[in-house]
Amino acid sequence: MFPSFWIFLSLLCLQLSSAVRQSLPSGSSLSVEKPSDVLVSPEGAFFAGFFRVGNNAYSFAIWHDNPICRAESCFPVWMANRNVPVNGKGSRLSLFESGSLVLTDAGDSILWSTVIVGSRATKLQLNDTGNLIVVGEKGDILWQSFDYPTDTLLPKQPMKRDTVLISSRSRANYSAGFYRLYFSDDNVLHLIFDGPTFSSTYWPVPWSRPSDQGRFIYNTTRSAFLDPLGHFLSSDNYTFFSSDYGAILPRRLAVDPDGNLRLYSLNNVTRKWSVTWEAMPSTSCLVHGVCGNNSLCSYDRLLGRTCSCIPGYFMVDQNDWSFGCKPSFQLSDGCSSDVGFVMLRDVDFYGYDYNQTSNTTLSNCRSMCASLCSCRGFQYTMSYTKRTYVCFLKNELVNGQNLPNFEGQFYLKVNKSMRFTREELEKRKQYNCTSRPMETLRRRYRQKGNSGVFNFMLWFAVAVGGIEILLVFVVWVFFYRDEQDTKEGYHNYLLAATGFQRFTYDELKKATKNFSKEIGRGSGGIVYRGILSDNRVAAVKLLNDATTGEADFLAEVSTIGKLNHMNLIEMWGYCAEGKYRLLVYEYMEHGSLAENLSSTELDWSKRFNIAVGTAKGLAYLHEECLEWVLHCDVKPQNILLDSEYQPKVADLGLSKLMDRGNGVNSEFSRIRGTRGYMAPEWVSNLPITSKVDVYSYGIVMLELATGMSPTGGVHSLGSGGDVKNIRLVPWVRQKMQESASNPTRVDEMVDPSLVGNYDKKKMETLIQVALQCVAEEREARPSMGQVLEILLQHENTE
Ligand SMILES: *[C@@H]1O[C@H](CO)[C@@H](O)[C@H](O)[C@H]1NC(C)=O
Ligand SMILES: *[C@@H]1O[C@H](CO)[C@@H](O)[C@H](O)[C@H]1NC(C)=O
Ligand SMILES: *[C@@H]1O[C@H](CO)[C@@H](O)[C@H](O)[C@H]1NC(C)=O
Ligand SMILES: *[C@@H]1O[C@H](CO)[C@@H](O)[C@H](O)[C@H]1NC(C)=O
Ligand SMILES: *[C@@H]1O[C@H](CO)[C@@H](O)[C@H](O)[C@H]1NC(C)=O
Ligand SMILES: *[C@@H]1O[C@H](CO)[C@@H](O)[C@H](O)[C@H]1NC(C)=O
Ligand SMILES: *[C@@H]1O[C@H](CO)[C@@H](O)[C@H](O)[C@H]1NC(C)=O
Ligand SMILES: *[C@@H]1O[C@H](CO)[C@@H](O)[C@H](O)[C@H]1NC(C)=O
Ligand SMILES: *[C@@H]1O[C@H](CO)[C@@H](O)[C@H](O)[C@H]1NC(C)=O
Ligand SMILES: *[C@@H]1O[C@H](CO)[C@@H](O)[C@H](O)[C@H]1NC(C)=O
Repeated sequence: MFPSFWIFLSLLCLQLSSAVRQSLPSGSSLSVEKPSDVLVSPEGAFFAGFFRVGNNAYSFAIWHDNPICRAESCFPVWMANRNVPVNGKGSRLSLFESGSLVLTDAGDSILWSTVIVGSRATKLQLNDTGNLIVVGEKGDILWQSFDYPTDTLLPKQPMKRDTVLISSRSRANYSAGFYRLYFSDDNVLHLIFDGPTFSSTYWPVPWSRPSDQGRFIYNTTRSAFLDPLGHFLSSDNYTFFSSDYGAILPRRLAVDPDGNLRLYSLNNVTRKWSVTWEAMPSTSCLVHGVCGNNSLCSYDRLLGRTCSCIPGYFMVDQNDWSFGCKPSFQLSDGCSSDVGFVMLRDVDFYGYDYNQTSNTTLSNCRSMCASLCSCRGFQYTMSYTKRTYVCFLKNELVNGQNLPNFEGQFYLKVNKSMRFTREELEKRKQYNCTSRPMETLRRRYRQKGNSGVFNFMLWFAVAVGGIEILLVFVVWVFFYRDEQDTKEGYHNYLLAATGFQRFTYDELKKATKNFSKEIGRGSGGIVYRGILSDNRVAAVKLLNDATTGEADFLAEVSTIGKLNHMNLIEMWGYCAEGKYRLLVYEYMEHGSLAENLSSTELDWSKRFNIAVGTAKGLAYLHEECLEWVLHCDVKPQNILLDSEYQPKVADLGLSKLMDRGNGVNSEFSRIRGTRGYMAPEWVSNLPITSKVDVYSYGIVMLELATGMSPTGGVHSLGSGGDVKNIRLVPWVRQKMQESASNPTRVDEMVDPSLVGNYDKKKMETLIQVALQCVAEEREARPSMGQVLEILLQHENTE
């Protein structure tokens, strides 16, 4: 009994001491399952621990400033296993006495390790520079993360001859991507796109020599260094100062997934990262490779950088532009007589010229390309230096850009039988995201064999178990206070470091005056008004169905917490205690849209503004490529209005992360949503996509315009008493059709509480978009991004 008692006790102590700590002694490990198993640097500048990179997928990472890393405010600066995430169960990082640091997955397979020969380690510690160090017996460094950077260089972290920073694949996929910062053979620091089908350097710009751009090519040291004040100096004489040079702030220099190199600093008041220097303007298509080959990159004020395939080509991988586009037509050898050319305006492809010929005619250029089998097209451009037209024959179509005001045309070689519409030739954007979120990691757990040893252990455990149950009680009484203390410490860390908080049940009970002021009943719970200890007014939602375990709840909460948009309600924190699960949100002065629909306060400009804002919020959920999130319960009750009647979409509780891979989620077996707002797919057996939200949005917009509820009845007490129980959608559609011949039809259906005060053009646009949104066929509905674009075209026209 005694040995087992001591083993038990020491296990218990290990558990209790596992809250945030400064070092990991050799022979012990950090577990993925304990959120508190995090290393902190002495002054709390950095944390290291398991970071969630997908559903049930974790990487061991280092990040700044905050014990819990949430994607929107926190960026891992280093990752041990970026390409091979571990499972959310049973995985651990262990420091062996032999000096190796080993990351094992459930089932004990080793996914990542350091190799150290013949030295004994004493501990693993995190330095305040963000360096994770395996310390040897003599206090020497056996291994340090600074020698193996991922995509980030920290101040004081030297960039050496062979250091390569490699971007992540995307904002949501932390695996190694295609952009690299490195010293190339010419001793110059370069950015290169090294993609699946081609590679191309783009910084310093490739059309003039590095030495002409101030780079010194004869210093073979090949080193660079960023100092804490924000000055960067490289041995090729490249140097820059951050825009906030001189302040000692947390900084990081990262090769971002979009291929740009940026220096960020963390604002010590807002706790947000801001860009204080970047290698090239973010708005440009100068970064090569973004769209893969056979494609065009364009910059759009609204959508940012977008990609499109050139006419006659289609995307190789629907979810990933890096693989570019391939032709949908046949061109047997590319040089027979029946090849044709189509002209693309404002288009330039950089590089991969077969040759160039100056002072030649267009027809000459054309016949050269036609007879050259490998020629894929040609560029016919006025050269100002040569004062004549130059013909470039292209072997590959890479680094394609849409350059408005570009002097010259591109002629694409196609099969002569191809016909293109004008629209196809001028199309310059495609609503496709470059990434999908990590899939759930499905690694099999190793079945424990029924070996003799195992059986013995089992029986032994059963035998001593009975006695231990008695002891547990005694020990629990002894240690209970201790555990409370460590929890308290962890809790305080959270409070200090993030806006996002964990609240205790008592705090929230006090804030809401014992849940006395009910302000709403949403799906899944009742919402109360509360005043937090720092005097912020909050909406506190007490969830009814609190059956989810704390870990699942936390995972869900962190997903919602990641979303950050001015038209989405902000979550300030949560409470998970015993059987209670609560969410704390910002309080919205004017309540929900549902409560306001009949109010005269809601004039036309506020209504249109609500339409645009709601579309922005939903478009962010659907299209920002961060994560594929559906709302699934868009209705006036879930659109809240702040003191200025700005809408914020609330109650993302029903949303589920979607696998962007097929845009279809088989997990949606239960019907979600609210009668009247639900798309037909919910009742037929069709897959559920973002178009269900588009449908609900359309219904809400019809309601906003007409003042009629889709479930029957009118909101306003105006003259419309006789239209009760009309079916909203067919009614509006019919009026709209009739309005072509009789314009007063529009006035007839508009909400009487507007008493005729509205912009007719905008009203028609809104109703027309709403009708497209409620199309029975989900393919016929626009995406939220398209809805937004249509509405914004009218936003500023008066
Ligand atoms: C760790 O940090 C201390 C103080 O910040 C510094 O003196 C020391 O050089 C650092 N060690 C390493 C290996 O970065
Ligand atoms: C361009 O893409 C096609 C289709 O994916 C591929 O076969 C070809 O090798 C690519 N070209 C280059 C230069 O990578
Ligand atoms: C090369 O670069 C290193 C590091 O910046 C510097 O110390 C050294 O003086 C340079 N050498 C020459 C010849 O410029
Ligand atoms: C490096 O840059 C400095 C400042 O611009 C200049 O004075 C110096 O001559 C340069 N060194 C080399 C080797 O080009
Ligand atoms: C924030 O940084 C500035 C500049 O370094 C400093 O002057 C200020 O005291 C800092 N504020 C806090 C709250 O740390
Ligand atoms: C053009 O396409 C047709 C049908 O797809 C094919 O028969 C013909 O060979 C193609 N022409 C060339 C030049 O490849
Ligand atoms: C470029 O290649 C074409 C096709 O092979 C050839 O006709 C032309 O003379 C070449 N131009 C130059 C400048 O070499
Ligand atoms: C271009 O070619 C034409 C005719 O071959 C010749 O007269 C003219 O001088 C050339 N121009 C230049 C700039 O070479
Ligand atoms: C990507 O764009 C293509 C062409 O516009 C379209 O057919 C496809 O459905 C889009 N894929 C997604 C996931 O939106
Ligand atoms: C993330 O990127 C890696 C490497 O390109 C790829 O293998 C993996 O499938 C990606 N994950 C997802 C969920 O797309």
